[in-house]
Amino acid sequence: MAARIRKAVFPVAGLGTRFLPATKTVPKEMLPIIDRPLIQYAVDEAIEAGCDTLVFVTNRYKHAVADYFDKAYELEQKLERAGKTEQLELIRNVLPRGVRAVFVTQTEALGLGHAVLCAKPVVGDEPFAVILPDDLIWNRGAGALKQMADAAEESGASMIAVQDVPRDKTGSYGIVATEDFAERQGRITAMVEKPQPADAPSTLAVVGRYVLNPRIFQLLESTRPGAGGEIQLTDAIAALLAEETVNAYRFRGTRFDCGTHIGLIEATIRYALDHEKLSDAASGLMQDALREMGVTELQ
Ligand code: UTP
Repeated sequence: MAARIRKAVFPVAGLGTRFLPATKTVPKEMLPIIDRPLIQYAVDEAIEAGCDTLVFVTNRYKHAVADYFDKAYELEQKLERAGKTEQLELIRNVLPRGVRAVFVTQTEALGLGHAVLCAKPVVGDEPFAVILPDDLIWNRGAGALKQMADAAEESGASMIAVQDVPRDKTGSYGIVATEDFAERQGRITAMVEKPQPADAPSTLAVVGRYVLNPRIFQLLESTRPGAGGEIQLTDAIAALLAEETVNAYRFRGTRFDCGTHIGLIEATIRYALDHEKLSDAASGLMQDALREMGVTELQ
């Protein structure tokens, strides 16, 4: 049995260029699916996995993320006076009691690997999670990070979340080669960035959930800028797997790439259709829209 992860790092200092102009003022992680921003889904997943320290790596433009997790005294008072207890609970529970949020600044967007390295002083010498909030993972049972944290606690190995993708899509992902794949996990032997379908060693694509041993920090410190001039987390993980076991974990759940327009739309549709109050209305209006727009394939 290895140590249980208690700290989760949320790298949210990217520029979010794919959602401009919205992300000129609203960080990508604050875009909502129904009524909750992406960052809230990620935080809930980390807390469910047992994390009590949430480390947000932000930049100087992302006050909105810190403001969101701060106490909103005036709003709380107003809701209290108006007797709106349900809404009051909602805003009080964005961060449950006993969970602390720590904000670290990444002064320059030097890449995901660099963003993770910025969290080193807070994480220290223990295994930790990294969650990319724009990879939203929906599951009816345990969340993806809890599944991984449980497995990592058993094995003590670092873990990377993977999902099966169609072979013609491998060029959009980091793809892993594995050995001894059993049940949901296997040892990673190599990672290839965005391979052509013919060159891909598998169809297991890396998704934004990691459980990492702290050794990764030293490796990140000596990682040179790679693709796009950025310090890549993938490069440091490649160095880590040369030294110790790093497992790929095929989680249960559906992942939406909310860093893209179509992924955000897909997630909104799925969450609406799964919503206890909105489901019927959402499904009705989707069918109406398809009919009105001349899409006739609905049964
Ligand atoms: P992305 O590749 O999605 O980049 O980063 P981005 O800037 O967020 O979005 P686009 O591509 O311009 O639209 C993957 C994750 O790494 C974080 C991002 O916030 C995102 O969660 N990141 C990336 C940082 O925190 N710092 C960086 O320097 C780069």
